[in-house]
Amino acid sequence: MKSLKQTRQDVISCTRCELCKTRTNAVPGKGSSNADVVFVGEAPGRNEDERGEPFVGAAGRILSESLERAGISRDDVYITNVVKCRPPGNRVPKTEEREACSGYLAEELAAIRPSMVCVLGNTAFGSVLGGAEITKYRGKIARKDGQLYFITVHPAATIYNSGLVEVLDGDIARMFSLIRELKNGRDVPVDIEYS
Ligand code: URA
Ligand code: SF4
Repeated sequence: MKSLKQTRQDVISCTRCELCKTRTNAVPGKGSSNADVVFVGEAPGRNEDERGEPFVGAAGRILSESLERAGISRDDVYITNVVKCRPPGNRVPKTEEREACSGYLAEELAAIRPSMVCVLGNTAFGSVLGGAEITKYRGKIARKDGQLYFITVHPAATIYNSGLVEVLDGDIARMFSLIRELKNGRDVPVDIEYS
């Protein structure tokens, strides 16, 4: 199995899709290799592209604050994206770009083996679980190939709809309480089973 460090190197030099031509820096995932949870966003934005790190702009601040309110440090989780390079003008990544990049997310998950994958927003929901209509499915737990997923809104969505801050906070707090249950050997209720 590939190490997280190797995946990181491969992402940094990757030319598997056309996003490599317009990026400043590729943005591999970042965080603890022992994380209980891996957060998956859509794609790097301008700040992330400049710094080569995920969720360091406005959406990242919102995510960090929500984690803080749940008593969790960013250093204890792992944060990544469906595609690792910024789409020009922050457009939604194309299907071929998501497919080209999907192996890296698979490698990150195989190396970390988290209790839970937290799917942030519609793009990640679509790419990772084939889902749509995040507002209907947020707060739900899914299981696919033995991996548990927790579905919630994208932190950036709270910028345009401040009422979603409470929704994101509630979801994140509940997800960590479910992770504690799992660590204590208890089952959690699965809402959606993918066969
Ligand atoms: N939005 C995302 O989906 N990912 C980032 O890394 C930053 C903003
Ligand atoms: Fe490679 Fe993914 Fe970047 Fe495309 S988006 S160049 S597949 S790392």
